[in-house]
Amino acid sequence: MRTIPVGLLGLGNVGAGVVRLLADNDAAIGARLGASIEIRAAAVRDAHKPRQATLDRARLTTDPAALCADPEIRVVVEVMGGAEPARTLLLQAIAAGKHVVTANKHVLAEHGDEIFAAAAAARVNVYYEAAVCGGLPIIRALREGLASDRIQEVAGIVNGTSNFILTAMTDEGRPFDEVLRAAQAAGYAEADPSFDVDGIDACHKLTLLARLSFGVRLRPGQILCDGIRPITPADLALAARFGYVVKPLAIADDDGQGVLARVHPALVPARDPLASCAGTMNAIKVTSAALGQSLYQGRGAGMMPTAVAVVADLIEVCRDLPEARAVRGAAGRAVPAPGPPPSPSRPLRDPGDLECRYYLRFAAADRPGVLAQVTRVLGEHEISIWQLIQEGAPAPGSPAAVVVVTHPARERRVRSALALIDRLPVIAHPTLLLRIQAQGQVTGACPGVML
Ligand SMILES: NC(=O)c1ccc[n+]([C@@H]2O[C@H](COP(=O)([O-])OP(=O)(O)OC[C@H]3O[C@@H](n4cnc5c(N)ncnc54)[C@H](OP(=O)(O)O)[C@@H]3O)[C@@H](O)[C@H]2O)c1
Repeated sequence: MRTIPVGLLGLGNVGAGVVRLLADNDAAIGARLGASIEIRAAAVRDAHKPRQATLDRARLTTDPAALCADPEIRVVVEVMGGAEPARTLLLQAIAAGKHVVTANKHVLAEHGDEIFAAAAAARVNVYYEAAVCGGLPIIRALREGLASDRIQEVAGIVNGTSNFILTAMTDEGRPFDEVLRAAQAAGYAEADPSFDVDGIDACHKLTLLARLSFGVRLRPGQILCDGIRPITPADLALAARFGYVVKPLAIADDDGQGVLARVHPALVPARDPLASCAGTMNAIKVTSAALGQSLYQGRGAGMMPTAVAVVADLIEVCRDLPEARAVRGAAGRAVPAPGPPPSPSRPLRDPGDLECRYYLRFAAADRPGVLAQVTRVLGEHEISIWQLIQEGAPAPGSPAAVVVVTHPARERRVRSALALIDRLPVIAHPTLLLRIQAQGQVTGACPGVML
């Protein structure tokens, strides 16, 4: 059987999983591909440190540029992470005529245009299944399975760390900081968790999903992005009483006028399949015109789940190499598009146009007339209240938590109202705004004041 030499940029978590999966499934991969895949070299920062990967140390190099230029290497797999030097190395590999596979959403979100254009010019492929939701084949579903359909919405849980934290806060009633520390100790969160809990990682992934679904070239900074830090166990308990589960969502939809992309925690109806996606799991719901709804759920991160996606891409990209074709006979296919279609970009909608119900938690002084001030501002902005709840007496001198659930309202109006409300002397802290995902009626009964 012929061998296809491959170079790895990075041999950390995911790189070690790739080495292991290739070794474990060598025979099956050989049978599927008609050739064997061999890691010829792996570039690392420190060639001497102990590693999980069972790769001959002689194959390690600290010169990633030389690996990209090596004429024997046919495919470069980038699993190092970060924007640079990943961008430069991917461009070098592409310029040297190599197909590339990457798990790196960060580099594609920031430099995707440049990388995809370079690949198109060099007529090589860029595969990136592992960059969104690890082992879930969502990129393949959008790029191939749904290539015949018109996507209307992609909505999902694409960051396992945020989902783990909100799930534990919901189940155990513990506050964010405490659960974050536990997640860090268990290896589910980084020492600097901001990419995960502030929504940045999800924004990176959403740029890729929105590109494939709608042909838009979004920069992460153009996406409405709220993290999960301000949420308290009391918010989660109240949401549950309304019949909702709070989930960290990434959503892009095209209503015919343009595309609106957003990353934020949202109240999801308990009966929605996304509500039951718990812990570190990921799930994406795609709504398309002809198929309707389809759901993709599974492990979005971790060494082996991510390696599954990287190696599947590697097999796919190798199928277009003559080495594989020579053995298989006639596996040659038209080279698939190197990345998202170069279609004219759809217009982007202003996030202010979003219309949904809102859950608003005010930290209000516990004295007469305060609620009247808050509800007056809401009324002046044509935001009508569905329920208003104030639970328990606050500690002396502390603000009371007052929760308002609105009828559907425009985001723009809600934000202007909150800008005024948060300046009222009777409001102690900035108001928490959570969006409610479903447009339908709120389900559960919740004791409160009906207005
Ligand atoms: N971990 C997951 O569950 C997961 C899931 C989906 C996607 N991803 C993506 O997969 C990629 C890799 O993640 P990971 O968890 O495997 O990261 P990791 O464990 O930190 O490994 C990174 C590897 O890259 C090497 N490296 C970094 N900078 C380098 C440089 N300038 N020159 C040479 N080598 C360099 C490191 O070398 P040393 O070993 O010598 O330090 C290390 O081997 C990232 O883009 C990540 O977002 C990860």
